[in-house]
Amino acid sequence: MLKQLLFKGAESVIYRTERWGLPLVLKWRQGKSYLLKDIDTQLRKSRTNRECKMLTIARTLGVPTPAVYSVDLDKYVILMDFIEGTQFKQLAGQVSQFHLISLSREFGRLIAHLHEGNVVHGDPTTSNVIVDEKSHLWIVDFGLSEMNATTEMKGVDLHLIHRALETTHWNLQEDMLDAMLEGYVAIMKDSAEPILSRMKEIRERGRYH
Ligand SMILES: Nc1ncnc2c1ncn2[C@@H]1O[C@H](COP(=O)(O)OP(=O)(O)O)[C@@H](O)[C@H]1O
Ligand SMILES: [Mg+2]
Repeated sequence: MLKQLLFKGAESVIYRTERWGLPLVLKWRQGKSYLLKDIDTQLRKSRTNRECKMLTIARTLGVPTPAVYSVDLDKYVILMDFIEGTQFKQLAGQVSQFHLISLSREFGRLIAHLHEGNVVHGDPTTSNVIVDEKSHLWIVDFGLSEMNATTEMKGVDLHLIHRALETTHWNLQEDMLDAMLEGYVAIMKDSAEPILSRMKEIRERGRYH
């Protein structure tokens, strides 16, 4: 199987490949040399397993994710659809403010769909969102995602978005955050309120640490 290196992160390597004439992605979780071998193996296996399950669960909640074709827990590999597009993170500085706001609003709506289903993403940064040529958003990287999420866990998810926006998009963060929260509230309605206050609380807690 021919593979082309697409992306190399701290935790994983993403290859573009092809099978059955379809453009696919192979995500491989590499080992971390600073971790004990047993812990490393266990973490890679459980995150691979979690990611594979949660990609599918997220889709049942109305969140576009790449379809999974196969998973090999002993090799820490997932084979999934290749999503043609650009990382939201890369796109943010390149598009008009109007477009950026509508993308951010959609990001908030998708996170709300997860939260409505009591799922948290766990690492909701703008590099884990792919924008395709029709400006549709796709969410990836579900290795830290969890089910049966509490208000605290949802508050943490929103806090992580807030933090990601201020560190990666400092000059656009306010517009992006407002639009994201607007989309979030539009879906969550009244149930957004306790989660938003929890997000603020978590942010305050962080200030004094
Ligand atoms: N199915 C996919 N189709 C297209 N690009 C992908 C796909 N999965 C991941 N990517 C790209 O590779 C990057 C890293 O993948 P990700 O799953 O986020 O791994 P990591 O855990 O290392 O962050 C993503 O930000 C995205 O740009
Ligand atoms: Mg990622």
